[in-house]
This record gives sequence, structure tokens and C-alpha cells, in this order.
Amino acid sequence: MEGFFEKDFLLISHRGASHYEPENTLRSFRRALDMGSEVIEFDVRKSLDNRLVVIHDRSVNRTTDGSGTVSEKTLEKLKFLDAGSGEQIPTLEEVFENFGGSCGLVIELKEKGTEEKTVLLIKKYGLEKDVVVVSFREDCLRTIRELDSTISTGLITIFGFGCVKRALSLGCRVVATNHRFMTRRLVSEAHGNGLFVCCWTVNNPKQGKKLAGIGIDGVITDKPDLL
Ligand code: G3P
Ligand code: CA
Repeated sequence: MEGFFEKDFLLISHRGASHYEPENTLRSFRRALDMGSEVIEFDVRKSLDNRLVVIHDRSVNRTTDGSGTVSEKTLEKLKFLDAGSGEQIPTLEEVFENFGGSCGLVIELKEKGTEEKTVLLIKKYGLEKDVVVVSFREDCLRTIRELDSTISTGLITIFGFGCVKRALSLGCRVVATNHRFMTRRLVSEAHGNGLFVCCWTVNNPKQGKKLAGIGIDGVITDKPDLL
């Protein structure tokens, strides 16, 4: 995708169009694109047999008809579960196969040990310019940077305090905070240091407009039709 960082304002679909469809499913990502979204965000974990899967929680309880921990199940067992509306938990590779090249991809690494395979798959599909690998975990971001210096990374924080410094020290290009803690000052500090700045999760149009007004580069939303 050309111009991932060049747009004035990006609406990033959080776990796809997750207000309308089961989160982190191919169906949710497809809906986000149908609604005009140019970037989708999703979460990555690993299965017992070390396959990368797209699911937010440590356990499958909330989002599927099964129970138990993702890392204690093989991909085959995970695939057996209903992730909503008959959808399966996708693998990272399936997301790349279906959406690589059609939109920007914000890949959030939820756990350690996911970095190497993520980089290998990004390269396999030639998506280096179309992705940003983000995480709350500094260790994951450091590893991505060591594995490949061309893939953009982003630090996610809740409060934002000191986040610009931390993001720069990790070689990140993006910094994100919870929307409640985004300020004009933080936006200007991030921009002054060449960072793309966004926040999560913004589902209220008024709030979205207000954030756009303070110069933020993008918001992560469950509603791709927010504005
Ligand atoms: O990528 C930002 C946001 O998705 C982080 O929070 O809990 O929705 O993964 P969470
Ligand atoms: Ca996420």
C-alpha cells in the first residue's frame, strides 16, 4: 500500500470491523475493507505447535465456542473452534494471503516468540512496506528491529508518559496511546521527533473529530465508518 504514513488521517480498523463482525476474523477484515478502511489492525499469538494465529486474548473463552489457553492448543484444535458467525481463528499467513497488498496491516504481537515467524512471513509475502509491527512489549519490538531494520515498528502504551523517548530508543516509527491520554502536547512532541502518532480505541465520532483536530495521524476504531 502506497503512502501508509503519508495520509493526513488514517482510520485503522481495530480487529477488523469488530463493532459489526466477530473480531479478528477474515470476515471482519473483509467487512472493514468493504466499508472503505485502508488499514486493518489485528493481534498475533502462537499455538502449541508454534503456528501464528490471529486472536486477542490468551484464552479462547471470550471469542470462540471453546475454552482453554491458545498456547496449549495445536492449530488443528484451534481451527476446530467457531470464532463467531461460523468463522475460524485465522492464521497470520491466511491474513496475508487474503489481504496482503490490498490494505495496510497493523500487526500487534501479543507475546514473545512470535517475532521471527512474523518477519519471515512478511518477507515471504513481500509486505515490508505495507505493515507496521506494533506491541506493548519492548522486547518484541527490539527483536523485530534486530531481525529486520526495514520493517516499521510501533510502541503501544496506555498513558503516554515518556512514550516518545521510549519509541525512539526502540527505533519505532509509530507511537500509540489509549485515547484518554492523548494530548496536543504529546502529538507535537511525537511529530517533532518524526513519529506517526495514533490512539485506540475511538468509537465516538465526536471524539474522533476532536483528535483529528489536535493533529493526530490516525485512530484505531471498531467502526471503520466512524467519520
Ligand atoms: O493496537 C492498539 C490496540 O489494539 C491495543 O489494545 O487490547 O485492543 O489489543 P488491544
Ligand atoms: Ca490490538
